[in-house]
Amino acid sequence: MSMTFFGQVALVTGGAAGIGRATALAFAAEGLKVVVADLDSAGGEGTVELILASGGEGIFVACNVTREADVQQLLARTVGVYGRLDYAFNNAGIEIEQGRLAEGSEAEFDAIMGVNVKGVWLCMKHQLPLMLAQGGGAIVNTASVAGLGAAPKMSIYSASKHAVIGLTKSAAVEYAKKKIRVNAVCPAVIDTDMFRRAYEADPRKAEFAAAMHPVGRIGKVEEIASAVLYLCSDGAAFTTGQALAVDGGATAI
Ligand SMILES: NC(=O)c1ccc[n+]([C@@H]2O[C@H](COP(=O)([O-])OP(=O)(O)OC[C@H]3O[C@@H](n4cnc5c(N)ncnc54)[C@H](O)[C@@H]3O)[C@@H](O)[C@H]2O)c1
Repeated sequence: MSMTFFGQVALVTGGAAGIGRATALAFAAEGLKVVVADLDSAGGEGTVELILASGGEGIFVACNVTREADVQQLLARTVGVYGRLDYAFNNAGIEIEQGRLAEGSEAEFDAIMGVNVKGVWLCMKHQLPLMLAQGGGAIVNTASVAGLGAAPKMSIYSASKHAVIGLTKSAAVEYAKKKIRVNAVCPAVIDTDMFRRAYEADPRKAEFAAAMHPVGRIGKVEEIASAVLYLCSDGAAFTTGQALAVDGGATAI
């Protein structure tokens, strides 16, 4: 447990599973009070149970990040219960498309952009005024290596994650003098439900996924959580507007 974080407040969207759950647990282990937000109430409550069972403090708030009223209500609950918001991890995201660009549908485009881009924008829009009023804070958004380059058969997803990096960099510059840092984390393939859904249909894809990372394996959720905590920490005080690839070397090739 570090003194940097003790007693501060963190919000994690998409906190019911995968990278979000692991990061919520990591924040709690550092002594932060954690607000877990997700569409999935059972999973979100499950994350809070794990936090409480390990001696931490946290609450679950049901929230669809594509709805402004939900996001406003989420931040009102955060301030109502804990009085402030020091760190936000805007991580809720979806990946649903399968085919090449010309095979995508308008419904897929709207769904992916709705969660991955509008959701992150709405969260930041309502987090930044709180951080401004209290004199600082840090935001980390979940992009992807698909936000740094091509992602064949995931073109809408790739566009959505490039957009997350655009929101991140622009906000970082806008709020830099206000002691609010804004960064993105860019995972490569990480072992989560999202990964398993994409690869369970074809085991050869799992072998391919491991091979595309120079380290020879896919990543663990804890390896993204530790990068998010670093970006929030005072150790990253001079780091803002960055898109940090946490990718086993995948983008170095
Ligand atoms: N798993 C990977 O390989 C990988 C790689 C790069 C980036 N990412 C990104 O990491 C983030 C987390 O993904 P994960 O792998 O942990 O996936 P996951 O599916 O395990 O978790 C995503 C969570 O987001 C929630 N969510 C979805 N839509 C929502 C909405 N509208 N409002 C609120 N919550 C919503 C889901 O209920 C779920 O709990 C996503 O942004 C994803 O794009 C994942």
